[in-house]
Amino acid sequence: MVSCRVGLVGAGGVAQRHARVLSGFDDVEIVGVTDVVPEAAAALAARHDARTFTDVAQLLAAGPDAVYVCVPPFAHGPAEEAVIDAGVPMFVEKPVAVDLGIAERIADLVARRGVRTAVGHHWRYLSVLDTARELLADRPVRMVSGAWLDKVPPVAWWSRRDRSGGPVVEQAAHVLDLIRVLAGEVTEVTAYGNGTPPPVDGADIDSVTTATLRFARGAVGTLSAACVLGWKHRAGLEILADGLALSLGEDGLLIRDADGERHVPADPEAARVAVDRAFVDAVRGVGDDVRVPYAEAVKTQRLALAVADSARGGRTIRLTTPADSHALDTGVTVDA
Ligand SMILES: NC(=O)c1ccc[n+]([C@@H]2O[C@H](COP(=O)([O-])OP(=O)(O)OC[C@H]3O[C@@H](n4cnc5c(N)ncnc54)[C@H](O)[C@@H]3O)[C@@H](O)[C@H]2O)c1
Repeated sequence: MVSCRVGLVGAGGVAQRHARVLSGFDDVEIVGVTDVVPEAAAALAARHDARTFTDVAQLLAAGPDAVYVCVPPFAHGPAEEAVIDAGVPMFVEKPVAVDLGIAERIADLVARRGVRTAVGHHWRYLSVLDTARELLADRPVRMVSGAWLDKVPPVAWWSRRDRSGGPVVEQAAHVLDLIRVLAGEVTEVTAYGNGTPPPVDGADIDSVTTATLRFARGAVGTLSAACVLGWKHRAGLEILADGLALSLGEDGLLIRDADGERHVPADPEAARVAVDRAFVDAVRGVGDDVRVPYAEAVKTQRLALAVADSARGGRTIRLTTPADSHALDTGVTVDA
């Protein structure tokens, strides 16, 4: 493959970002864009000298080497099925769906067809994540507190539960994904929502959610998500181990231990580039650094949905783990 010919499904904010990053790679060509809003597809295609297609089938007929699925959470499913059916490598934006049914069905198809996948959990490429892992290598995590405290993003579907999955699934999933990496799997979730939507037309999501988490390796923790602000206040996680406190966000890692305090900066843009670079290298057969293939993203999705479902139903949800591997089992049980 001389260059990797990429097609885009969805032409909104995140597709525009991927298109910008990908067009900066000299071994990538953006060949086509499709969107249910033809004008959106046309505008993005024009920016990258690409063609516009009326639907995914037409885009696939053009023979792309890879397809990016950048649709809102509620729209996942049909595009992935078509791409998998065509045997084309697929990058999917998080969250992979609003529910577990679609996510598990797509994961099953991916496994059966053996299609290469990646999901947009770019926080996994933050340089400071390795630093945090090294610091925690010989110290068990005792406590985790994750948070995504933000505004309501300016997309119409976001404040509708059936469209976005809600703030925990749609936004805090980045934090939950890193929590899984650093503290291991969560076995039990009890969450509360405030029952008050943000002041946005048609909103039906909680504007604040807080969850307590119990981990297989013995840690306990919390996750909070809020969209009551007019700005992004904080997104990240704090981890306490014996004699060590870590505070990790997209822009860096604050380390405090017996030697004092130090800050290691991180470049969020570098992580956003790295997630695309790793996928393209894998598609071209010159690299193997996809950190979140589809099946791995489903595990984070399962945790995010457990938090959202617990908050909604006012119940504790148990997630069963077969030992504390990095694999959450499918089992979810509910305490009424
Ligand atoms: N990884 C990240 O950092 C990151 C950042 C932003 C958004 N996202 C995720 O990307 C997804 C999209 O977010 P966005 O900000 O681009 O939303 P958006 O609303 O700006 O864009 C979505 C686009 O998809 C199109 N679309 C909807 N249904 C479609 C379908 N069935 N087929 C083709 N196109 C369809 C819409 O017309 C729209 O143009 C969300 O799940 C969001 O969480 C991830």
